[in-house]
Amino acid sequence: MRVFVLNGPNLGRLGRREPDKYGHRTHADLVSLCERTAEELGMEVEVRQTDHEGEMLGWLHEAADEGAPVVLNAAAWTHYSVAVRDACAQLRAELVEVHLTNVHRRERFRQHSYLSDVATGVLTGFGVFGYAMALRWVAENRRSEPG
Ligand code: DQA
Repeated sequence: MRVFVLNGPNLGRLGRREPDKYGHRTHADLVSLCERTAEELGMEVEVRQTDHEGEMLGWLHEAADEGAPVVLNAAAWTHYSVAVRDACAQLRAELVEVHLTNVHRRERFRQHSYLSDVATGVLTGFGVFGYAMALRWVAENRRSEPG
């Protein structure tokens, strides 16, 4: 089973981007954490990052067509993109919304998500470990599904 881990704008700059909020781990560190976790769980993972909304929409369509689970940090798009939400609504498998920071402790505009009510669940504030938790949950959920 292939799982998509999709990261939105500015997340490619992790490590250099506001390290007081986002920490010192880079996007490359995040990719290796996801790959290590997936290997341990016997899953195939595809980790991607883009600053372009159309590219993200294409990846979400690909996941929808494959019936693949998605772990998504849509970053700023979370708070304003109806297009990303509409693409998420087409997914047929699990969608875990992930944020590195606890968005509920931050500015008011970050406290609304266009994605949460089309997501299966939300993990916010656990840093890069949120991605590993999301992948573990997807694996567990798959195991407990009949058939
Ligand atoms: C974020 C939180 C968003 O509000 C912000 O725009 C991001 C990252 C997070 O991972 O904490 O770019 O999604």
